[in-house]
Amino acid sequence: MQPIAKPPLIWFDGRLIPWEHATIHVTAHALHYGSSVFEGIRCYDGERGPAIFRLADHLERLAFSARIYRLSMPCSLAELTRACEEVLIANEFSEAYLRPIVFRGAGGFGLRPKADHPVHAAVIAMPWGAYLGDEGLEHGIEVGVVSWQRFAPASVPAAAKAGGHYLNSQLIVEEATRHGYAEGIALGRDGLLSEGSGENLFLVYKGKLYTPPPAAAILIGITRDTVLTLARELDIPVCEQALPRELLYAAEEVFLTGTAAEITPVRAVDGIPVGSGKPGPITRALQRRFFDLVRGRSEDRHGWLHPLPTAAAVRKEAIAR
Ligand SMILES: Cc1ncc(COP(=O)(O)O)c(C=O)c1O
Repeated sequence: MQPIAKPPLIWFDGRLIPWEHATIHVTAHALHYGSSVFEGIRCYDGERGPAIFRLADHLERLAFSARIYRLSMPCSLAELTRACEEVLIANEFSEAYLRPIVFRGAGGFGLRPKADHPVHAAVIAMPWGAYLGDEGLEHGIEVGVVSWQRFAPASVPAAAKAGGHYLNSQLIVEEATRHGYAEGIALGRDGLLSEGSGENLFLVYKGKLYTPPPAAAILIGITRDTVLTLARELDIPVCEQALPRELLYAAEEVFLTGTAAEITPVRAVDGIPVGSGKPGPITRALQRRFFDLVRGRSEDRHGWLHPLPTAAAVRKEAIAR
């Protein structure tokens, strides 16, 4: 599912500018060599007003991704926090997907960035519904294990969310959709389960919740962490461990997690129904908990909701600065 609108305003290097002006030069390092780091964050219009889910955790991961690639952040996390707020308010979005991105701009060819190579930051906000479809969220999707593997250890740091890494994700989702699946599951270099093209993988086997560990070439998802926390609160036993592919065919339940995909049940893997072929009770319970939390219907015990300030509050703070 594609984003549905062009937001009128984009935050680019400290300013809100019109969509048409938010462009980069064709010689940009990021365009040729994939040197960007980015995030995907959701703002939900909940019962207590709009709130950005786990904003601080996402921005911390952005800084971590930049550190791995020695990309010096052009602005502070406090500035990026304000940028996320401002871009939502300026576009009058109470619910949207946020995409902060930091990338190397134009400055001549060559892999090694020049000392004066500019690093830019932008934040884009887009209305975006369920990534794998409302129907998928409700009834589950069909996935297939693909032939492309996730990164070998010491090749590409899977825990960083960097632009170039998504060439691998594009191969995964292209192969899966070509075979008629909604999403692909990739194995790691060792043949063990890793993750989807843009989601972490969970399965329920004999009543216990399993997910591959960080060493399985995954992005260490923030939704994954949310689900692990919610599962523990629901007294569901959880286990992060290396998992063989065949457990997908033995599992009672399988689901994918991600900021875009939220918690999407999987109803079949490689044409083999998962359990009864319908989302199972543990998936349903976790979905309920998750949506109650992000929509402000339950207590925010972990301080994960960042309430969107009003336009007046943002103006007042800007004047005070
Ligand atoms: C490759 C990959 N794995 C997992 C995820 C899930 O991460 P998160 O829950 O932080 O969105 C994403 C999405 O960002 C992703 O791109």
